[in-house]
Amino acid sequence: MPVPPDFNFVHPAHYAEHGYPHDLWTELRREDPVHWFDKTDGLPFWAVTKHEDITTVGRHAEQFFNGPRLVISHKPEEPNEFPPTLIQLDPPKHGIYRKLINKRFTPGRLRPWHPDIETIARDIVDSLVENSEEGECDFVEKVSAPLPIAVIAWLLGVPKQDWNLLFDWTNRIIGAEDPDFKVEGKTSSQAAMDTMTELFMYFTELVAEKKKNPQDDLTSMFASLEIDGKPLPDIDVLTFCLIIVVAGNETTRNATTGGMLALIQHRDELRKLQQNPNLMPLAVEEIVRWTSPIIHFGRTAQTDFELGGKKIKEGDALALFYPSANRDESIFEDPFAFRVDRNPNHHIAFGSGEHFCLGAHVARLEMEYAYRHLLPRIEEVELNGPVERLHSALVGGVKKLPIRYKLKPSSVAA
Ligand code: HEM
Repeated sequence: MPVPPDFNFVHPAHYAEHGYPHDLWTELRREDPVHWFDKTDGLPFWAVTKHEDITTVGRHAEQFFNGPRLVISHKPEEPNEFPPTLIQLDPPKHGIYRKLINKRFTPGRLRPWHPDIETIARDIVDSLVENSEEGECDFVEKVSAPLPIAVIAWLLGVPKQDWNLLFDWTNRIIGAEDPDFKVEGKTSSQAAMDTMTELFMYFTELVAEKKKNPQDDLTSMFASLEIDGKPLPDIDVLTFCLIIVVAGNETTRNATTGGMLALIQHRDELRKLQQNPNLMPLAVEEIVRWTSPIIHFGRTAQTDFELGGKKIKEGDALALFYPSANRDESIFEDPFAFRVDRNPNHHIAFGSGEHFCLGAHVARLEMEYAYRHLLPRIEEVELNGPVERLHSALVGGVKKLPIRYKLKPSSVAA
């Protein structure tokens, strides 16, 4: 369905119906890159669509706060009583908290966990292609949904029998606006808050258990943190667990799904990658640029500021549209071409500046291992039905990706 000119940039249903409004974003980048948008029942905001302006905001975290709202709603705001997680903190507290856990997520510190992440990814791919040379499936259900939840749950030291609980909770938090996850008699924020409470209760017990019996996992690490020589308050330990679960799941799921869709739609690129698996790291970056799973994050100006020639006033809301920045023709050569060997690729799908994605390397590893195990086995793959999209203006989610595939004969398990 073509994107209508009255598309509301923060309306969840509009993304479910039309996908990303690339034509409108392109027009905005050309005509009015910092655009005042007030055709909404929610808070009016500046729509920031160019790469340069979004990175400028990222470099000025003291002037542009993530609190009090990280997501701009299409309707009047409801009170949010939940304690802020890392991503909602601002300087100076944000820097202090980020430093506590940052080191654990660097490529070097993640290296010992590579074999486990690879095993999780390989097992998921194996279960898809197990028995027959040909098949049909929903790629989201079989690969891209279980992959990140399994990796996150494993990193956090959640027992395997509870992985499904995490999966369900994150669906309900991120998809709170989606009819499939709607809870009768509750607004979407009430439903999301109830789910967060369930998650908090679960992790309260897990944290207590890890304090008694620490393991080599993230929950044990969070539970042992100290600030000024004193243990970190329990609520801060819990919000660390919560942000890892929520931030690490839907984002990677949709990048993995969007990558498969892009490879189906760009057969030459799929063949190029199959013939040269060393391109995988570049291909994963291109998939993340191409899909840009986070549609927008919000900021609130703390001072007057000139951005892209516009005068932003203290207290104004801004929405940073990462997928638009990742098609910015002043940064990317031929931005609407999907190229698995794109290099350089200065995309900002993982954000930029102060809040740059903590889990970027985890996400890259998950996708690399999954595609490394899947793609060499594929002879043919095609779409097998309509792509169903999530109602969300935060994550560009695909709920269903029906595919039909044929495997290379040698790759079917005996
Ligand atoms: C393709 C997958 C992913 C994408 C596209 C993505 C995107 C982002 C973006 C755009 C931000 C910046 C937020 C801001 O500027 O306000 C961010 C922050 C964050 N991400 Fe990711 N993310 C992904 C995967 C992950 C994973 C796997 C994890 C956890 C293991 C994770 C954990 C976080 C955390 C904790 C933050 C907050 C960092 C801070 O505030 O300092 N993300 N992510």
